[in-house]
Amino acid sequence: MNADDKKRLAAEAALDYIQNDDVIGVGTGSTANYFIDALAKVRGKIDGAVASSEASAERLRSHNIPVLDLNATGDLPLYVDGADEATELRALIKGGGGALTREKIVANASKKFICIADDSKLVNRLGSFPLPIEVVPMARSAVARRMVQLGGAPELRQGFTTDNGNIIIDVHNLSITQPIEMETQIATLAGVVTVGIFAIRPADVLLLGSDSGLKVI
Ligand code: A5P
Repeated sequence: MNADDKKRLAAEAALDYIQNDDVIGVGTGSTANYFIDALAKVRGKIDGAVASSEASAERLRSHNIPVLDLNATGDLPLYVDGADEATELRALIKGGGGALTREKIVANASKKFICIADDSKLVNRLGSFPLPIEVVPMARSAVARRMVQLGGAPELRQGFTTDNGNIIIDVHNLSITQPIEMETQIATLAGVVTVGIFAIRPADVLLLGSDSGLKVI
């Protein structure tokens, strides 16, 4: 099975977590796109979706799925999204697509967070994937210096502006042995909007597509 087949398998399995008349949170990225396309086939079951990015909102609308504002819906029963890395404890790195801030907002507003991915995303320790951090432009150099002090190698994501008008710093070479502590430490730096570690609010379920079928963690 190739990576796309594995992503599709995980995405389609997430449909089982939807209840009638739910408004659900929908993430961003290639795996979330498979979920959106699968959702289109059962769209009568849900009342609408809250999107974690403009790109996902557009894809949902293209399937005639109503896109709602989180301020109007209140907390959600379910959020489905991909990840760049995931551990057995369901801590994640997210933000490869740059949508980490809205993803973290929707994840935190959701009772259940189902993470869908191909099994190459499962790691023993987070940090091989460069850690995305959304930063207010004025704080770019200050935050980058703090990342060097933490042992990382920060790199500005060139030519990229987030949906919120900010920049992304991708931090290479971090060995994230204590995800909750590092999430807290980076999140509290002045100028950091969102750090792409999702450990304080991890996924509740990991659905991984693999050669031997679906793995549920
Ligand atoms: C978007 O900002 C990310 O958090 C994505 O969820 C993550 O990059 C996974 O993307 P893929 O499903 O394309 O691998």
